[in-house]
Amino acid sequence: MATADQIRSLVKAYSQHDDQKFKTVVLQIVAHEAKLGHGSFAQELKKDASSIGKSATIFKMQNSNPMLQMSMPSVELTELFTDDSVHSKIERILLEYRNRNKLYKSGLSNRRKILLEGAPGTGKTMTASIIASELQLPLYTVQMDKLVTKFMGETSSRLRQIFDSMDTSAGVYLFDEFDAIGADRLMDNEVGEMRRILNSFLQFIENDVSDSIIIAATNNPKMLDKALFRRFDDVIHYELPNDAQIKQLFDYKLEGYQDGSICSKEVIEAARGLSQAELTIVAEDAMKESILYGKNFNSLMLISLLNDRRNNYVSREA
Ligand SMILES: Nc1ncnc2c1ncn2[C@@H]1O[C@H](COP(=O)(O)OP(=O)(O)O)[C@@H](O)[C@H]1O
Ligand SMILES: [Mg+2]
Repeated sequence: MATADQIRSLVKAYSQHDDQKFKTVVLQIVAHEAKLGHGSFAQELKKDASSIGKSATIFKMQNSNPMLQMSMPSVELTELFTDDSVHSKIERILLEYRNRNKLYKSGLSNRRKILLEGAPGTGKTMTASIIASELQLPLYTVQMDKLVTKFMGETSSRLRQIFDSMDTSAGVYLFDEFDAIGADRLMDNEVGEMRRILNSFLQFIENDVSDSIIIAATNNPKMLDKALFRRFDDVIHYELPNDAQIKQLFDYKLEGYQDGSICSKEVIEAARGLSQAELTIVAEDAMKESILYGKNFNSLMLISLLNDRRNNYVSREA
């Protein structure tokens, strides 16, 4: 049964003609019932709720929402070189999604609100593509720059549109580098508006009961406070590659160009501290050199490219 507070909120939303609010409360009741183990009732109520407040604007948005960039990526999990723990967490997300109806019948829901955190270039954005690709779902990347405006009210209503879209168009929704929401100090005026926008974003995540998968990615470890963690079903931590992963990545990327012996101890040493994204660029540069200049593929060439990369990196950091 819905709680007294929920019923009051429903009546309030009705009297204010606020369809979205009404729907949000109904979906909260859905979540509440599902938690109590009333799976089939929750599912039916959710179906009924899907028609609440379906307005022309939502329809328009679905087709051409400038805040959402849609793609159908094709990348496999085997192409991601990272810790086993990251792999098993991704596999778990896929498994639970594929069996979500089974889970639902027991009042459980699949893990679908995921926070990705770690150094740049370690595969966070790629992970969103992998999940979409493995589940054959469209990937909707939220254009964070179009989302945030000077006006708190407008930003909130854009956020609401995106979360509505999760209900009407199932997919993987990626808020890439979402901490941009909270980071713009210039816009963070004395009333702490950016902070409020970030909080309302987190609130939307918490309340969402759609079938879509929500992925928020950040390079910024400062984001990771307890309040943030509890909104997500899982957190995946990404790290720079270790020696074994450096070798796996080069062997995979350079397959066909070498006999598997290219990853000498010296190559690994030169590669340490670079991200998977940087190693990918080095591997591609090496292939280009061999194609364009007929250069022989060898460890020395790779080491020199790695050192170039590192020097760029160091001067960028300085
Ligand atoms: N763990 C990884 N395994 C294989 N390739 C990777 C990995 N991480 C990054 N890459 C390569 O670098 C590119 C950029 O990485 P990206 O996923 O955007 O990093 P992040 O979002 O963590 O900054 C990817 O498209 C992929 O080609
Ligand atoms: Mg990224």
